[in-house]
Amino acid sequence: MAVTILAIESSCDDTSAAVIRDGYILSNLIASQDIHKKYGGVVPELASRAHQANIVPVTDQALKIAGISPSEINAIAFTRGPGLLGSLLVGTSFAKGFALSLNIPLIEVNHLQAHVLVHFIRKKEMEDSSPKFPFLCLLVSGGHTRLILMKDYLEMEVLGNTIDDAAGEAFDKCGKVMGFPYPAGPIIDRLSAAGNKKAFHFTKPNVSGLDFSFSGLKTNFLYFLRDKIKEDPEFIEKNKADLCASLQYTIINILISKVIKAAAETGVREIGIAGGVSANSGLRNALIAEAGKRNWKVFIPEFSYTTDNAAMIGITGYYKFLKGEFSKHDITPLARY
Ligand code: KG4
Ligand code: ZN
Repeated sequence: MAVTILAIESSCDDTSAAVIRDGYILSNLIASQDIHKKYGGVVPELASRAHQANIVPVTDQALKIAGISPSEINAIAFTRGPGLLGSLLVGTSFAKGFALSLNIPLIEVNHLQAHVLVHFIRKKEMEDSSPKFPFLCLLVSGGHTRLILMKDYLEMEVLGNTIDDAAGEAFDKCGKVMGFPYPAGPIIDRLSAAGNKKAFHFTKPNVSGLDFSFSGLKTNFLYFLRDKIKEDPEFIEKNKADLCASLQYTIINILISKVIKAAAETGVREIGIAGGVSANSGLRNALIAEAGKRNWKVFIPEFSYTTDNAAMIGITGYYKFLKGEFSKHDITPLARY
């Protein structure tokens, strides 16, 4: 029997629904919320309201594109956390109602585990191209920066974590200082292409082990610009590309140096990146360059699977379905998983 799962993601500011059958994605729809752009970051209450408005049409569309009727769905997978509580409540309640109405199982998914499992989404054209275990993955998003060792589909060990800001936050907060709207990561990525990455030097943290820190870099960037603007109010405008390239280069160096350390310590050679920041072209190129030098096999997700999406919730739900890991209907979301 084919296993067909409807997956729902609503942890932050993207409402997404996907249909996945036997590990292959049939549809993956994402409704982004532009409303946050003018506030320079995600406003939790506005995010919850937008999820309420979007979740029914997005799910309806995902089912239509997949060509699936509700009676063909075997289970509903949903993001239980971590994330914004109000946002998670919308997806959780919707998933419960849907599962109850069809009398099918409900599967809770950890959003972070799901980001990593995008590497196990099956593709017809490249059968068996997934990483082998143990698999080392750098998860870099707006809320998280972690080094994760996957020992099996559902077995992960966190080797390192950020002790303050996440890498995506460093992009977004430094971008805000330069006057960019939220999220600034993609803008910095684009502008970096025309800049000199060695034009300016910013602080690199001195954090032991496999942990990360980005708050020092953010402060250093802010004070650097404050001083430069005193000398020349047009400084940012005149040096935008070089500022972006140098900032991006520093963030990538911080990330890659820890991946190298983790690979050396664990001996793992199957290495991937995941999460919103894994869309960054500089990070992708840096990982490929290291792989060439160090004989790693690297895994870089498709762009549509980097930022928040329900396909990743679906693939995680699929492996949980196979193991019979279902949730009860009194389940509640977790802002921290
Ligand atoms: O995974 P995600 O969609 O949401 C969280 O779970 O946080 O990640 C969003 C983050 C934002 O901080 C955004 O600026 C960053 O991913 N991002 C990028 C790029 N695309 C998205 N950062 C750098 N370069 C990019 N191309
Ligand atoms: Zn995410």
